[in-house]
Amino acid sequence: MKFGHFDDQKREYVITNPRTPWPWINYLGNEDFFSLISNTGGGYSFYKDAKFRRITRYRYNNVPMDSGGKYFYIKDGDSIWSPGWKPCKTELDKYECRHGMNYTNIKGEKNGVTANVLYFVPLKTWAEVQKLTLSNNSKETKKLKIFSFLEWCLWNAASDMENFQRNFSTGEVEIQGSVIYHKTEYKERRDHYAYYSVNVPVQGYDTDRESFFGLYNGFDEPQVVSEGKAHNTEAHGWSPIASHYIEVELKPGESKDFVFVLGYVENKEDEKWESKNIINKKKAKDTIAKFDTAAKVDAAFAELRKYWDNLLSIYTVDSGDDKLDRMVNIWNQYQCMITFCFSRSTSFFESGIGRGMGFRDSNQDLIGFVHQIPERARERIIDIASTQFPDGGCYHQYQPLNKRGNNDIGGGFNDDPLWLILGTVSYLKETGDFAILNEMVPFDNDMSVARSLFDHLTVSFDHVANNLGPHGLPLIGRADWNDCLNLNCFSNDPNESFQTTENKTEGTKAESLMIAGLFVVYGRDYADLCKRLCKNDEAARAQKLVSAMEVAIKKHGWDGEWFIRAYDYYGRKIGSNENEEAKIFIESNGWCTMAGIGKEEGLCTKALDAVKERLDCKYGIVLNNPAFTKYYIEYGEISSYPPGYKENAGVFCHNNPWIMIGETVVGNGERAWDYYRKICPSYLEDISDLHKTEPYVYSQMVAGKDAFKPGEAKNSWLTGTASWNFYAISQYILGIRPDYDGLLIDPCIPGSWKGFKATRKFRGDTYHIEVVNPHGKSKGVSEVEVDGKHQKSNIIPVFGDGKEHRVKIVIG
Ligand code: GLC
Ligand code: GLC
Repeated sequence: MKFGHFDDQKREYVITNPRTPWPWINYLGNEDFFSLISNTGGGYSFYKDAKFRRITRYRYNNVPMDSGGKYFYIKDGDSIWSPGWKPCKTELDKYECRHGMNYTNIKGEKNGVTANVLYFVPLKTWAEVQKLTLSNNSKETKKLKIFSFLEWCLWNAASDMENFQRNFSTGEVEIQGSVIYHKTEYKERRDHYAYYSVNVPVQGYDTDRESFFGLYNGFDEPQVVSEGKAHNTEAHGWSPIASHYIEVELKPGESKDFVFVLGYVENKEDEKWESKNIINKKKAKDTIAKFDTAAKVDAAFAELRKYWDNLLSIYTVDSGDDKLDRMVNIWNQYQCMITFCFSRSTSFFESGIGRGMGFRDSNQDLIGFVHQIPERARERIIDIASTQFPDGGCYHQYQPLNKRGNNDIGGGFNDDPLWLILGTVSYLKETGDFAILNEMVPFDNDMSVARSLFDHLTVSFDHVANNLGPHGLPLIGRADWNDCLNLNCFSNDPNESFQTTENKTEGTKAESLMIAGLFVVYGRDYADLCKRLCKNDEAARAQKLVSAMEVAIKKHGWDGEWFIRAYDYYGRKIGSNENEEAKIFIESNGWCTMAGIGKEEGLCTKALDAVKERLDCKYGIVLNNPAFTKYYIEYGEISSYPPGYKENAGVFCHNNPWIMIGETVVGNGERAWDYYRKICPSYLEDISDLHKTEPYVYSQMVAGKDAFKPGEAKNSWLTGTASWNFYAISQYILGIRPDYDGLLIDPCIPGSWKGFKATRKFRGDTYHIEVVNPHGKSKGVSEVEVDGKHQKSNIIPVFGDGKEHRVKIVIG
């Protein structure tokens, strides 16, 4: 069952039934000011950091779900309705929500009146703009009463939800004309306030929640709206809100626009006040003035659209398959921007208060984003590396607002450092900007111990090399990529977290085959980079360690038919045929095949066949098999999950592309494609009722074959699945891969494909690429033509002339 459809021309998903199986959301803003918005107008806003600068309030896991947002109430005679159906839930004559690239357009129609709300954050603006257009399509004059609504959050979203003894006394607002200012805590340590304005005179307002709703009413029936008149309240403590009351008369056929601005301001200490206790409103007024007419809003909106036209013109494919094209050209790249902005911090599954930016997560997010805005990727790499420790270890997460490592979570996840090599090398291959390697980057944000970024890569590499276990394989630490494989953290205490409980460091034999494979892949990248920089001794040293790792993997990591997953604290195998449960895991088989370990001896194909046989299912590749049905204290969180969910045999979509890429290494284009299609959201649109989450973005997890409800997805949007799938499809299946000296083209597609066309902008040039497959092959390039001339290599050179170049590739 579907709840809408794609509009590829406009790059929108159009939801036509508001009762989606779960709130289907979108993100507004892509730099400093952000909002999450659901298809019914739910969601919240924040500045940079969803924990420390939460501007409007939201209640997770509420009943009914998705309660609270930026709402409009329309009172037309006795009928009260909202353009997004919620919160009133009055049946609409027509409903439509269009989620586009950083904007959402919600349109409702009732009794001849249409209300159309365009929500977006204009470029370089610390505000969300909402343009409400009311049209009268009926034959009579309409007298409407409009109430806007939002609820202020008292900034720190965590204390906002717990410290009520204080919170109920601190709230403060100012009201001037049609602008409502929220200034709680502004007179003390805060240098910021928020405001909500409308560009017409209002007939009233409310800022006190209790007066607006009435103490016993929900969002669906505010007392003020039922009464049809604002109370003009000024909040003192309790829960400040912002609501404008506007009376509108519309003749038949008439339309009117109203522009609302929800903004955020920071003032310098000596510029905070206009007069005693009256805040300095200058910056707010400047922003409001920028958007005080519909024409100005339309112009800003056109700029946002242009911005996305430009970003999405960098990589496009024309394959003849709409579902593939819309993912590659639109939604997957869009999701990569979103994961770049938020890592795993804020979605409808991530509360914005739990996690900051992940070291490993943010590095991986770069591989789907770096081609879009390399300058921002550059800054991110430096930020991430700045949270590293001198020995190469790192904080697992950092807060986006202050860019400092998060002490609560700490470090000791031994895969973390290697991802910095991935992030940096991806940036170098995209841009050729080797100067980044000379940037001086601090350790733990302490500039007095800064070293070059290149040195950070060296310590990243060495951190693994210096922490090997009894088999010469990498020690796992708290966990590797799989957060739930906690092999050194045994605890029977129900009050302790799996990941931050005591981490045994002495006498541990716990080693990770996943990190081993990762080390071979990025260790080679590191050695290659050293060679390029003419650091030949360092390259040779690195290569030696990598080769030793390959030997160790073959000797101690091969189980006969696949790569084992790990050795536990006691030195026993995990992910081996010897085990009763979880005999095989996806991660080590993904990384060891991506590394091509034992490819000549047939180990890679064997391992991939075992994955196909044991892990593949209708909805993707599950993480392990058989699922754990018992709890194993020495494995940590993983076996705590019921079978088929999350890291216990769920289809953890993030790691499926590792197998896809592994399949391209051995040239199996059919399988790579089959795996891609299985988890790709646009191919799942028809089963939206089962799948539950948005059909335009990836979810972290789809319940696996052992689950109660296989195929049901959870945790959409913020997942490494976005960048890894874009990486797999664009660079390995379609095979257009940035390399140091040019664009490497090496597709691996199903033999039945006749070919495809793609455009790639790369280092200032534009390549129009045509791939043809006359012999029904999957992989191998037999002919290369660039601008009409044959060339031997399938690396298309960088011309640096800023021109268009035609590339023809024959597979065979
Ligand atoms: C989550 C985490 C990520 C981890 C993965 C597997 O997505 O954000 O860091 O690698 O789960 O446990
Ligand atoms: C839980 C989740 C895992 C996530 C981790 C982050 O362990 O299962 O997916 O990575 O929390 O802290």
